[in-house]
Amino acid sequence: MRPPARGGRGGRGGRFDGGGRGGRTPRGGRGDGGRGGRFGMKGGSKAVVVPHKHAGVFISKSKEDALCTKNMVPGESVYAEKRVSVQNDDGTKVEYRLWNPFRSKLAAAVLGGIDNIWIAPGTRVLYLGAASGTTVSHVSDIVGPDGLVYAVEFSHRSGRDLVNMAKKRTNVIPIIEDARHPARYRMLVGMVDVIFSDVAQPDQARILALNASYFLKNGGHFVISIKANCIDSTLPAEAVFAAEVEKLKADQFKPAEQVTLEPYERDHACVVGGYRMPKKQKATS
Ligand SMILES: C[S@@+](CC[C@H](N)C(=O)[O-])C[C@H]1O[C@@H](n2cnc3c(N)ncnc32)[C@H](O)[C@@H]1O
Repeated sequence: MRPPARGGRGGRGGRFDGGGRGGRTPRGGRGDGGRGGRFGMKGGSKAVVVPHKHAGVFISKSKEDALCTKNMVPGESVYAEKRVSVQNDDGTKVEYRLWNPFRSKLAAAVLGGIDNIWIAPGTRVLYLGAASGTTVSHVSDIVGPDGLVYAVEFSHRSGRDLVNMAKKRTNVIPIIEDARHPARYRMLVGMVDVIFSDVAQPDQARILALNASYFLKNGGHFVISIKANCIDSTLPAEAVFAAEVEKLKADQFKPAEQVTLEPYERDHACVVGGYRMPKKQKATS
């Protein structure tokens, strides 16, 4: 299934250093609902899963290629997503969960060709705006047993699902708190490699900067999803994205890349970059 072509105010994005947007990636479709379960494998047909260019992300090769992550909790879906089981040569099985770009802005950014998400096996991630944990669960799969995801969400209703999901995922630490007040959870969170922010708030750049000042290591990275309408619905989306990038620059962030989340999300962009980046060493003559 091809994604619907949607018009929107967002531009196509690009690298701030003038580089390209990365290669083509498989597209996802909406049809991942249902009960989950076996995929391929039936009647002797074998599922084929290959690594994506981002470590910890995979592509399920089928009639339509689809993104997926290696399931930390085999046998279980989180949001009724389908699962794909692959048999190794030694007879052991590995299970993957399809990752729906209509349900996850990080998946949409990956399909948008983002060059680096910085979230990889073994990394520590602070996730702001975790909601019920749909994307958090995939981040948990990506960072794997050696990584950690601190997932902050202030809605108690969403937080209930988040906490339940985290019971089975030992690398997820759910924190039901307001991300505007990182001092309230500083005892729970260690220094992290990456902050992923998806709070959809007008002051989200400030919220990211505040959390970075507490928890993001120097030379660490941020990934922020920006919903233009949440910040200023009177301006063209591109102008909103540009203004947010300027705010980030003023707070010691170094935005490196921007991709649109179209066609999965309208008027959304994802911006990625570094934090308190070390000055480049001058070449000694
Ligand atoms: C767009 S949704 C996030 C969706 C989620 N990232 C996903 O992909 O599954 C934004 C979430 O941020 C939460 N949020 C907004 N402001 C917040 C704040 N100040 N502190 C913590 N969570 C916040 C909302 O309750 C909502 O669940």
